[in-house]
Amino acid sequence: MSAPDPHFFARTLINWYHQHKRSLPWRETTDPYAIWLSEVILQQTRVNQGLPYFLDFINTYPTVQDLANAPEDEILRHWQGLGYYSRARNMHHTAQTIVNKLHGIFPKTYQELIKLRGIGPYTAAAIASFANKEKVAVVDGNVFRVLARVFGLAENIASPAGKKAFQLLADSLISETEPDTYNQAIMEFGAIQCTPTMPDCLFCPLQQECFAFLNGMVQALPHKSKAKASRERFFHYLVLQYQDQFYLRKRIQSDIWQGLYDFYLHETDALEIPVNLLKEQFLLLKSDQISSIKNTSGVYKHVLSHQKIYSKFYLFELQSRLSEETLQSTGLSLFSLAEIEALPKAVMIDKYLKDAIF
Ligand code: ADE
Ligand code: SF4
Repeated sequence: MSAPDPHFFARTLINWYHQHKRSLPWRETTDPYAIWLSEVILQQTRVNQGLPYFLDFINTYPTVQDLANAPEDEILRHWQGLGYYSRARNMHHTAQTIVNKLHGIFPKTYQELIKLRGIGPYTAAAIASFANKEKVAVVDGNVFRVLARVFGLAENIASPAGKKAFQLLADSLISETEPDTYNQAIMEFGAIQCTPTMPDCLFCPLQQECFAFLNGMVQALPHKSKAKASRERFFHYLVLQYQDQFYLRKRIQSDIWQGLYDFYLHETDALEIPVNLLKEQFLLLKSDQISSIKNTSGVYKHVLSHQKIYSKFYLFELQSRLSEETLQSTGLSLFSLAEIEALPKAVMIDKYLKDAIF
């Protein structure tokens, strides 16, 4: 049972694409900036979820100059809910690099693109092929699945050797004349036809050439790597209210949600801790007056790729402002509700605010 001939494979995918493709705004442009935005957004979201974010970004920041000149907080606020906030911060950094070092001209070649922060092999190949018809194959999760099944490649994509094997195969298959359409086609084929759990093998144009189909291995391929163990973390948030304002701080440490705002945080190994202990443990209580607790929230759970976060929020009303010393040591500042609304926040913080405060 031989693998399909590269020309047949590419031709079949491109024909399939012309019949089945979804009409999407980033497919109607060769502007590398717009393509870059769409690809960064689509790396962590499905098309349906990502589309409104793309439209919002391209409206708010129509050019790379607009993005470079925007404040980071504002960009993160537009990104809110997409997760992987370092991608937004990297995007901002790269926009500034392009404006300041590359005369504001967005690069279009793989070799130039790969040097930019946040642009890896996948994104560089996508931009170079879609914007410039460069013959570099994209390998994302969809491509990986299609190739593993059709060609019976059992290598693990998580290992460097596995990645190399898939990239080599992909590069040998890409269309000479239509690398851009070919790349869109194989990703779309993986998204619509050769889907993870229910591929439509019965009505598939590659059926008679497909290794997995012919060998009863559709469910066994692609070969999955073992999921990394997930770490549980317990966040206890002290929500400090002074009159109708609240103390928040920007997360500057290199951890999840860097650049986003939250409350004074005490992390422990347990979900339930005595409120008195909690109060005593906060160094800011040593110098500042805090009244008794006003409200304790239920548990908010948020699942990230390698972490599960459990949070509780303890609302305290202050009789006076926090001291300068406390502000210095904690990074907290006082914000009105209108200001809080405009700050970029993790979805969990946003939910709590909507449930308990707004
Ligand atoms: N996912 C990643 N890139 C995509 C694209 N260009 N079109 C549709 N889905 C995608
Ligand atoms: Fe995917 Fe099934 Fe088509 Fe093979 S036959 S390419 S597994 S949809």
